[in-house]
Amino acid sequence: MVDSLKKPQFEEVRPGVKSPADETILTPRFYTTDFDEMANMDISINEDELRAILEEFRIDYNRHHFVRDEQFQKSWDNISGDTRKVFIEFLERSCTAEFSGFLLYKELGRRLKDKSPLLAELFTLMSRDEARHAGFLNKALSDFNLSLDLGFLTKSRNYTFFKPKFIFYATYLSEKIGYWRYITIFRHLQQHPEHEIYPIFSYFENWCQDENRHGDFFDALMKSQPQFLNDWKARLWSRFFLLSVFATMYLNDVQRAGFYESLGLDAREYDKFVIKQTNETAGRVFPIVLDVEHPNFYQSLEKCVVNNEKLTAIASSNAPAPIKLLQKLPHYVSNGVELIKMYFIKPIRVDNLAGTVR
Ligand SMILES: [Fe+2]
Ligand SMILES: [Fe+2]
Repeated sequence: MVDSLKKPQFEEVRPGVKSPADETILTPRFYTTDFDEMANMDISINEDELRAILEEFRIDYNRHHFVRDEQFQKSWDNISGDTRKVFIEFLERSCTAEFSGFLLYKELGRRLKDKSPLLAELFTLMSRDEARHAGFLNKALSDFNLSLDLGFLTKSRNYTFFKPKFIFYATYLSEKIGYWRYITIFRHLQQHPEHEIYPIFSYFENWCQDENRHGDFFDALMKSQPQFLNDWKARLWSRFFLLSVFATMYLNDVQRAGFYESLGLDAREYDKFVIKQTNETAGRVFPIVLDVEHPNFYQSLEKCVVNNEKLTAIASSNAPAPIKLLQKLPHYVSNGVELIKMYFIKPIRVDNLAGTVR
């Protein structure tokens, strides 16, 4: 037990620098896009709203928020064993996700500077926020004698290419789901301060307002491109992105239920709440939302949870690789079937409400 206090069982690339978690379908993604298409986009029909958001970003409400106060000035050896392990994983995943936002927004700010200065400044100011978020999380990792080499991560990770339209769907959802995740933990700990095992959570209230504003920016940006929102393809893609984001989060979090338990939360209840809220929020801009109250929705997700547990068990067994693959195959197929079933649950049209107050 004493050992687990000092050094958690993580691989290090250099002393104190954690080697990044293996990339899987469930780890945070790094994105790149068609910068020319983005630069040539005509945003004039919603320029006023975008300018208003720029003014908000310039005010920089959280300029002085991300400063570590005296609460951090102590040893965290009391967080030990499994809790320490899942806690470090949480910090790493969050840091990687924030940093991935930083990289994308920074690059967009740089590439759009000449052709689309308004968007360029908006992206640059968002990258400012994400750099603070990632930096704050990396600093938290150092309380556990670890850090992430973000330069190495920049060079070594695979980048997923998405056309601008898909970048908008994906980043809009990740900002809004990020908002709901942070605020839900914050409010829970406000009511149950006995579960606040580490001071970072008390920063989440102002922090998540950054994510909320970033989400509002993508909302306004998508509304400047109504062709991305108002046809049958938009409805199919919205469905796809909502489902992938919700399913990925659910599978990740249920797998890490121990982390939520350490905060006094039930991973499933927490996720269901976050999914419900994010889905509702998405209805302000997406033409459809998912019917997450449909009884088959969580039933299918739970089947994927079971498949994933089996896949993890197979992966860590000693069987030869070809045998493992054969053993895994039926679970992959079953996951595919369940996801398709969820995809075909009739979504809820909300675009007919466009123009009304939602
Ligand atoms: Fe962020
Ligand atoms: Fe953000």
